[in-house]
Amino acid sequence: MDRGMVIFLGALFTFSSSWLGLIVFPFQQLGHEQPYQKSDSDDPYPQPLQGIAVAGKRVYQANGCMYCHSQQVRSQRFGNWWDDNGEERTGADIKRSWGLRRTVSRDYLYDNPTMLGTMRTGPDLANIGVRNPSAMWHHTHLLNPRSANPWSIMPSFPYLYKREKIVGDRSEKALLLGREWTVHPGYRWRPTPQQWDELLRERGATILRQVLASAPTETFDLTTADGQKRLLDFWLTTPEEDYQIVPTADGEALVAYLLALRKAEVPLPEAKE
Ligand code: HEC
Repeated sequence: MDRGMVIFLGALFTFSSSWLGLIVFPFQQLGHEQPYQKSDSDDPYPQPLQGIAVAGKRVYQANGCMYCHSQQVRSQRFGNWWDDNGEERTGADIKRSWGLRRTVSRDYLYDNPTMLGTMRTGPDLANIGVRNPSAMWHHTHLLNPRSANPWSIMPSFPYLYKREKIVGDRSEKALLLGREWTVHPGYRWRPTPQQWDELLRERGATILRQVLASAPTETFDLTTADGQKRLLDFWLTTPEEDYQIVPTADGEALVAYLLALRKAEVPLPEAKE
């Protein structure tokens, strides 16, 4: 065989084996998967995303949520944790209630592209819609994660919300947050001691009246520094009177997508662990 032939056959072998291994065999194994339906009366699983959740997935992609959150639950055989006796055990994902079982390819039938993720800076979100079905919690957390968990290192997404003057009644969609989180959305706000002194001088009586309207049993002695500080702490946790924070269309869509994430809950015959 001359050298040209060796190179030709070598290249042919290299390319055809990777074509077989990366395309043909996976396609044979996974290409014909169908939704699972246990009996005729059950809904097939999985279901494609519906309504605004479809747009929500694009918001999830655009904001890089995938760089910190995976959507894949490991089997009982992986993921170490240590029990009370210091004994090493496996199945950490399922213990953390990130899913009832491992995820398998069928869970991702309608996900194109899939949002599997590789990093777990934050918790896995494969079943977040089951684990935390409260839309209000998700909005509060996305506006500023610190308002839900003071230690959170997740970035704020304040541009998914708008702060607007209330016209008429407060909107039903308005976030139920104290002014410490809403005066500057995405940040935590606290007046400086001088600003607070000024506020007390100018509007002290009104502030006290407003706070006492929502908590009539509280008492604040404004002649003492302690009373003033307690009033400040309390006032910061009450919502602003004239302004509200409401989700933008993107914010609503993203939360609809999060609530639609319900993988690893329906049993599948091939997901044994
Ligand atoms: C820089 C990394 C990072 C990015 C980017 C990020 N997160 Fe997070 N996320 C975290 C961390 C850390 C936590 C855990 C602390 C907390 O609850 O805030 C978390 C928690 C969460 C939780 C609560 C999970 C639970 O089990 O309670 C949800 C829901 C969530 N993130 C959604 C999102 C969405 C949606 C995006 C994109 C818009 C996003 N995250 C972007 C790091 C991140």
